[in-house]
Amino acid sequence: MTIKWDNRFSVDHIAIDAEHKLLLTTINAIGVALRHPEDKATLVFFFDQLHEFALSHFKHEERLQLKHKFPFIENNAKGHDHLISDLNRIRDDVHRITKNTTLSVTDITDLHNHTAYLAKDWLLEHLLQEDLKMKGFMGDGDE
Ligand SMILES: [Fe+2]
Repeated sequence: MTIKWDNRFSVDHIAIDAEHKLLLTTINAIGVALRHPEDKATLVFFFDQLHEFALSHFKHEERLQLKHKFPFIENNAKGHDHLISDLNRIRDDVHRITKNTTLSVTDITDLHNHTAYLAKDWLLEHLLQEDLKMKGFMGDGDE
């Protein structure tokens, strides 16, 4: 399953849109890596990349929101806390699963479920529930 960028995801801010595209692409990369789950190092690499990109993106977003006096900053920060704990839980589980010498059918199903959750619920929740509220408040620059 590949998720495609849609212009309705845009918050009309070059830097934030670019980072959202990066998160989306990294989840797609996990999907590609899952075609060969026996290559556990590549799977772990992309899950860890997503974790790193997401944390740095949330920090960047919060810094920009402060600068532009975004009125829903507190709610957005609470949303980020929830997304981070979700992501930590999934990353920890991926690390646990990939320590197994051979992945079982259940392990592979769990990895697919984590990826589907990240694509459909986690990323879309972030983009559509909270981030779209930034539209019109953040200027359109790269900072
Ligand atoms: Fe965001």
